[in-house]
Parts: sequence; structure tokens; C-alpha cells
Amino acid sequence: MKRTINRMTAALLAAGCMVSALPNLATGAEVVEEAKDIYATDFEDGDVSRFTKRGDRDTSVIATDKDEDGNTFMTITERSNGWHGPQLSLDEICEPGVKYTVSLRARAEWYNDIKISLQYTAEGAEDASYTNLQSKTSQGEWVEFTDVKFSIPEGAHDVFVYMEASDKVNLYMDDFSLKTAPVYGIEQDVPGLKDVYADYFKIGGAVTADELAPQTTKDLILKHYNSITLGNELKPENMLDQAACQAAAAAGDETAVSVSLKGGARSILNFCRDNKIPVRGHVLVWHSQTPGWFFKEGYDPEGDWVDKETMLGRMENYIKGVFGVLDEEYPDVDFYAWDVVNEAFTDDGKPRTAGTYEENSNYSGWVGVFGDNSFIPYAFEYARKYARPETKLYYNDFNEYMQGKRNAIAEMATELHEKGVLDGIGMQSHLDVRTGSDAFPSVNVYEAALKKFAETGCDVQITELDATLDKNSEVTDELLEAQAQYYSDIMDAIVKYKDSVSAVVFWGTTDDMSWRAWGSPLLFNEDYTTKPCFKSIIDGIEYTVPETTEKPSEATTEATTEATTEAPSEDPTGDCIPPMSGDVNGDTEIDIMDVIVLNKYLLGSAELDDKQKEAADVDVSGEIDSTDSLNILKYVVEIITDFSEVR
Ligand code: GLA
Repeated sequence: MKRTINRMTAALLAAGCMVSALPNLATGAEVVEEAKDIYATDFEDGDVSRFTKRGDRDTSVIATDKDEDGNTFMTITERSNGWHGPQLSLDEICEPGVKYTVSLRARAEWYNDIKISLQYTAEGAEDASYTNLQSKTSQGEWVEFTDVKFSIPEGAHDVFVYMEASDKVNLYMDDFSLKTAPVYGIEQDVPGLKDVYADYFKIGGAVTADELAPQTTKDLILKHYNSITLGNELKPENMLDQAACQAAAAAGDETAVSVSLKGGARSILNFCRDNKIPVRGHVLVWHSQTPGWFFKEGYDPEGDWVDKETMLGRMENYIKGVFGVLDEEYPDVDFYAWDVVNEAFTDDGKPRTAGTYEENSNYSGWVGVFGDNSFIPYAFEYARKYARPETKLYYNDFNEYMQGKRNAIAEMATELHEKGVLDGIGMQSHLDVRTGSDAFPSVNVYEAALKKFAETGCDVQITELDATLDKNSEVTDELLEAQAQYYSDIMDAIVKYKDSVSAVVFWGTTDDMSWRAWGSPLLFNEDYTTKPCFKSIIDGIEYTVPETTEKPSEATTEATTEATTEAPSEDPTGDCIPPMSGDVNGDTEIDIMDVIVLNKYLLGSAELDDKQKEAADVDVSGEIDSTDSLNILKYVVEIITDFSEVR
């Protein structure tokens, strides 16, 4: 039996009921585990032995010195490169799947960007990956890095956190500490976005391997998303194997392309496979994050551009190779969509400038070889040839609501759709709320693009949705409300075109992990709690609770809590089931709804039958009172794990 409830959620009802009774516990983030110290030093003992240089080619001398007040700090001198500096090995002290924070004070002798970075070698990869975690400019003064976050993907090894700078200036470090970040749980008592929108389209998120590592992020995804985009791991720079390509070229084959899945991709794809989450593949043909050498003779970055025919051979082999390796290694993952070409048009609908991505991140190697955008139809033809028949193929772009770009995309997509090689248009939708009134784009402009694309007859997917707050403003309640309103209006526009839209994908999970973290652009706070924009986009939508989480006895209702006060008295076999302590509404789960139902009873606005009363008296005092309500809440937020603790 399915149950239809109003999109005004349990959580909102919970908040409303709880505020008067038990305010702070119900609304705050649930800390499952406090931060724990792993390693800290202020260098006062002169010991720097845990820190090593960055390999044999690093000339740094790591020692200590004292300031005029007698405080000891680390010195890093004789560096002959920006990447030289002190590193701390994490292999023995950190583990995958845990969020860590590193804090330290640092100083450069003269103007320099000091960077805290992470290095690891992903499972199955030959080369190390390097991620800059945070940069700060020092002009000779101490700067603070506070709680810089990172986590380590499953299977990674040779993991280091290290400090580097933009050149070989002398560096200084003090007050280093490495901790686990507090572990939060997700909000359980809000509906899953994928369930709320189940009758309209898929709801998804992009995630990188590092971001997916913590269990709570996995829980968040499992609850809310039924589509995953790998944030970086399937992009050409992460799939291509330069040495193998060069070896083939040296042997006379200029079109052989060698690709492989690295550990980061595998950790996300394993998660999708194990949890049966469909994947949006991203991305095959793109100017960005595609190395310049891919377009050059001999696969040599210094080589000349190859000719068009050679490049078409490389394009075909690349596309064939990517689909091939995924078919072989992940036959059970549902790649329901693939971005075949990304960002080929400028805002006025023209091709990009010829050049390599390394020269300028806006230049295109594809235009370098082809001179224009004539490579696009080939990409779709090859993708259609090698993709699984059920995989839908998309052209994807940002600023897709700019008139020139919008029209160019619509024209190109219509033509390729008619040829049967393109299925849809991806609207990235990296939006800006600013102060609300001058949001970019306005909802009308956004909707005009949706309309235009829907009219092409192509499917439309919103592929990278995020909406930033003003860069220069503090995050205020007012701004968060403006963001909530904007998100709600944008989602309303998307819902209007639901017959043409098959997925809405957010670019990320929690605000702090976003590529635009400065603008708090997503639906979830750093502590995994929902933001006003989460609430605004679910408010007002009628949805159906999925079969798997359905409650045993209720009928359709507008007022959720009324239905949940009905307790089932019998199981389907007719045997009498004893009440479960704490399960006041008898839905076989102990959650915030039980607290609400009990509070309503205590306030005189709901009735409980005998079984429910027995379940409500969790401390077995013979009386049902607010202590029982508080104890159930403590159980829900895991302050207690068993009601015997309060008896
Ligand atoms: C573009 C790309 C994505 C991603 C974002 C920023 O929108 O399509 O792959 O790189 O930028 O993270």
C-alpha cells in the first residue's frame, strides 16, 4: 500500500512541535562523534622528525628556530622549488572514510602563496594525485590555517599532507595539529529528495572520491539521490594514460588511445554498483581537464597539432575505450546518461579560441585541430556507436540561458537529435542568488532557456545545479531566505517542464565541499543539516512514500501526524505483536515522529490507545510524561542507545 502525504514534511512538523517542547536537540546537527586529536606539536621540544622532505629532489632543510620571545617554530630553508616543503606521512595514522582537519600557522619570508596540500596514490594508479586543500598569502607575517578538511579515498596509499608555496622562499611553520573532524549524522526525519520528486525526474548529485569517503556523505547520498555524477574521475585527464599513448605513437600508431579507470573512479563506481545508483557519465569531449598533449603529434605536449583525420581516430578510440573499460569492469552499473560534449560554445554562441587548456583554461584543443566546432557531430556519432543502447547522450553547457549560446545549442541539438545521435541537452545551471532581487539568471531568463530546449524535442537534464550567495557578504538568515526563494522558483520552473526534464543533478553534497564553497551554494550545511533552500524546494509537492519505506497501516492523509497516531495492532498473520518501547506510532521504527505523536498526546491534541501508551512509557514509570518524550528524543539522536539506560 502506498501512502500519499503532503510535501510539508515530517521534519517541519517536527520542528514546529518540538520548538515549544524540546528546542535545541531537535534542530541542531547530530554529533555522532566529537573531534579527536591524532597528532599535534608546537615544536617546543625541537622535534621535527615526523616531517620529511618531499622526496630526494627536494633540497629543503627542515629544522627549528626560536623567536625573540623564546617560542620555537619549524624552519624550512634551502628550498629550490615551490613544491619543496615538509610533509607528514598519514599512512599509519589516518584511514580512508574519515574526515580529518589540519590546522597550523605558517609564514613565508616574503610575499608568497602558502599552500596546504594532500598527496595520495589511488588504488591501482601508478601516479600520485595532488590536491590543494587551502592557500593563503603571507607577506612575511604568520597566517593561520584552521581546520582545513580532507579525507582519503578507499584503497589510497602513500598519503601525505604537506606545505608548499608558490616559489622557493624560506617557510616557517608552528602549532601543527591533525584531528578527526566531528562526525555528524544526516537528518533522518526529512524526506529523501529522490522520493519527493519521484513522479517527476531523478534527483542526483556530483561527488568526488574524496568527498564520498565519509560514511555520513554516503548516507546523505543514499537518502536523497538516485543519480550520481563522478565529479572529476571520468574526465579525460583522469582516464588517459600518456605513457601508453606515447609508446603507441613511437611505434607508429598515432591514433591508438590508452585509457584506464583509476582508484578514485573505482571507489565511486563500486558505491554506485553496490547501491544500484544510476550514473551520469561526465564527460567525453571537452576542452578543459583534457591535456594539451592529447591533440599533439606523438602525444607530446611540445608537438604540432595533429591533422583532423588523426584527431578523429583519437576521438573514436578514446570514446570506444572509455565505454569499453566501463562495460568490462562495471557491466552492472546503469550509465543512463553521458555528457558527450561539454562547453563547446562561448556565451555568444561561437566556438572557443584554439589553444591548449594548459595555455589558457578557456582555450580548446578541439578547435586547435578542427578550427571550429565541426568536431561535435563526430563525437555524437562515435558515442552512439559505442554506448549501450539504453544510454542517453547529452550536450552539456553552462550559461546556457545566455541568448547567443542558447540559440546555438538549440540549433545544433535539433540537428543531431534529428539524426538520432543526440538525446538531450544538459543545462549545468551554476546560478547566482546574489542579494535575491538581482539573481543571475533571473527565473524568467532561466525558464526561457528551458522552454527553448524543451521545444527542440530533446530531453533536458539539469546537470550541475548550484546557486551561490553573494561573494562579499556574510551568510545571513536573510540571504539564506533569498536563496531558498530563488531555488524554489527555479525548481517550480523546472517542474513546469517536467515532461521534458528527466533529471535534476546538484553539483555536490554539502556546502563546504562545493567547488564554489565561498558562496554556500548547495542544499546541505557542512554538518549535513538541511538549509532553508532544501525545505523550500520540497514544500508544496505532493509525493508518494516509496514501497520500501511504507508504513503498515495508514491511509492517504493531508495531516501526516494524524495518520501516524494509528498503531497497527496485529501483524499480517493475525498474531498479536507486543509494542516496541519508544515506537509510539507503531510504525516499527523509533524516530522523531514518535516524539511528535507523544508530544501531541501530552498537549491534549492526540489520543493514544493502550498499546501506544505502553510503548510511550519508555522509563516504565507507570506514567506517560515529558520525560518519556525527552528519552525517546535522546534515543533518536543517539545520546542513549537503549531505554534500559533510563529505567
Ligand atoms: C563545469 C564542468 C564540471 C565541473 C564544474 C566545476 O561545470 O562541467 O565538470 O568541472 O565545472 O567543478
